[in-house]
Parts: sequence; structure tokens; C-alpha cells
Amino acid sequence: MSSELTRSSWTIKDEAVLAELISLMDLNPTDTALLRDLHVHARTAAPQMAQAFYTRLMARSETSEYFVGKPMAALHGTIGDWFVDLFSGTYDVEYARKRLQIGSVHVKIGLPVRYPLAMMDVILEYGQQLVAHSSSPTQALRAFHKVLALDLAIFNQAYEDNQLKHLAELVGGERLARIVLAGITS
Ligand code: HEM
Repeated sequence: MSSELTRSSWTIKDEAVLAELISLMDLNPTDTALLRDLHVHARTAAPQMAQAFYTRLMARSETSEYFVGKPMAALHGTIGDWFVDLFSGTYDVEYARKRLQIGSVHVKIGLPVRYPLAMMDVILEYGQQLVAHSSSPTQALRAFHKVLALDLAIFNQAYEDNQLKHLAELVGGERLARIVLAGITS
């Protein structure tokens, strides 16, 4: 196994990852203002979005089983608030930290990451509808894609952080864990 292999991205950790991802999205002040202008429309659309979201998850046992005994009315409100926050207009480390914490909740219930990532489809559909209310729909749509991509990356980060942590404990270090995951043997 190569002892030389390393990547500069591997040295970016914890909150620095969040700052890096925000920077990578390259949102400009017009983007954030356009999204903020849609905030009130997002609030109006949230209950319908939540309904579509849970209708899809409840339609199959592999996803519905996670909700047995859960307070569904409250969860409708929670996913609605999460959707509305996409249009807060503020996408800083504090915003990303909250989203990462939400990702971790899903790690801890043993939910495969493919499900939340796939469910971004419903979020995308409702976000796309909202941009019709914008004074600049094309740029607003572009900006919406950016904040949704940020969430996809953060959700995935919660899972990767967890996997790396456990594998690093097993193999004796995070760099080694990354090498094992990359399948590099020489
Ligand atoms: C776009 C994808 C998703 C988003 C944005 C999302 C968002 C959220 C949020 C904001 C919470 C509240 C977290 C907290 O208490 O701090 C939550 C809780 C929960 N989510 Fe999701 N979720 C997603 C996908 C899924 C999927 C696919 C499932 C299951 C199939 C799921 C199952 C749950 C469950 C069971 C809880 C309650 C956890 C508990 O309090 O014990 N979520 N979700």
C-alpha cells in the first residue's frame, strides 16, 4: 500500500468542510436576494410539499417503517420548515451546521443515504414551481439548484463523516481509512 498517497481535500475537516462547500457553490448576493424574495411563497407551498414528500415515503414499506410511532403532523411541519429555510437568503456556516445535524439524525436511525438523496426530487419539483414568482426566474432557478446541491453535499457529508470515523477507529487512522475506501492496495 502506498504510504505517499494523500489528497489536500482529505485535510479539510469538520466546519472547514462546510465553509468549503458554501464557497464551492459560488452564490452571489443577487442569488441570495432572489431566493429570499421567494421565502413567503415557500411558506405557502410548504404544506403541499410536505404532503407530496410523505405520500411518496409512505407508499413503500422500506421507507414507511421508519415512521412507525412517529408524530407525523410534527414531521410534516419539520420538513416544511426545512424547505422554507432553503429560501432564507442566508447560507453561512451556521446554516450548514444545522443541515449537517439533520443529516446526522438520519444516520442514527439507520437510514440508507440513497433515500434522502432520492427524495431531493420532491424538493426540486416544488422549488422549481416557486421560481415562477421571481422577478428573475432563470437566475432564481440557478440559485435554487445551488442551495439544493449544497444540501445534497451536506447530507452526504453526514454519512461520510460517520463512516470514516468508524473505519478510522478500526484501521487506526483516517488517512488509512480513506485509502482502504478508495481500494488502493499498492
Ligand atoms: C430530502 C430528504 C430529507 C430531508 C430534508 C429530511 C428532513 C428531516 C428533518 C429536518 C428532520 C427533523 C430532524 C431533527 O429532529 O432535528 C427529519 C426527521 C426524520 N426523518 Fe427525515 N428528511 C429526509 C428524508 C427522510 C427519509 C427518506 C426518511 C425515511 C425513509 C426520513 C425519516 C425521518 C425520520 C424517521 C425522522 C424522525 C427522527 C427522530 O426524531 O427519531 N427522512 N427529517
